[in-house]
Amino acid sequence: MATLGVNIDHVATLRQARLGKEPDTLFAAAIAEQNGADQITIHLREDRRHMQLWDLKMLKKTVQTKLNLEMAAVDEIVNIACSIKPDTVTLVPEKREELTTEGGLNLKIENIEKYIKQLKDNNIEVSVFIEPNLEMIKLAKELGADAVEIHTGKYANLTDKKEIENEILRIKKAAKLIKTGGMRLAAGHGLNYHNILPILELNLIEEYNIGHSIISRAVFFGMAEAVSKMKSMINGIF
Ligand code: PXP
Repeated sequence: MATLGVNIDHVATLRQARLGKEPDTLFAAAIAEQNGADQITIHLREDRRHMQLWDLKMLKKTVQTKLNLEMAAVDEIVNIACSIKPDTVTLVPEKREELTTEGGLNLKIENIEKYIKQLKDNNIEVSVFIEPNLEMIKLAKELGADAVEIHTGKYANLTDKKEIENEILRIKKAAKLIKTGGMRLAAGHGLNYHNILPILELNLIEEYNIGHSIISRAVFFGMAEAVSKMKSMINGIF
């Protein structure tokens, strides 16, 4: 059985659009957990475009499953992680201009070994978000990563059948090497209710981290109730 990490960043994105209090990220996390999420995943970006430090601190107190913090490998955020101590940290590449995380982390960047050690010394499990690239996976092992999250963004964006097949093969080989290396195996980015099917068929991935497609579906499944509730209220039915 694979586990599901629900990424709730988009709840914070919506809240930040008005800089107000709703929708509440703690409520979103609780509903996700009550419906089977095994983990709540959030990304505290350096530009704080969605999740704020406040969210991280409060979610650390309220999440009952596991809290996985996606973050850049930089001093400021590593120090925040070490003081708040989420269960897991997933190191991701971060560029200010990007709409979402583009590509996997290059593990040849400066200070990465130091950051992994610092996080592990603080009893935080460290996962690295990388492309399904065998050289990077070997490096992840050498650097002491506990887990690898395979970046499925390229796979999710492909449209050509042959290219999709090749990418699935690449993911399969990567997944096997990660397991042989004794690291926990996660996957995520761009996965939706359709493109996840061939990945599920591999029967190798232990954990999925999914956000955009879940929050998108939640909008539509919640829309009918939200509209009819307001319509009732403006007609005096509470
Ligand atoms: N895993 C990682 C490491 C990510 O950075 C993201 C995006 O924040 C996700 C999973 C979830 O991606 P998506 O929102 O496309 O499902």
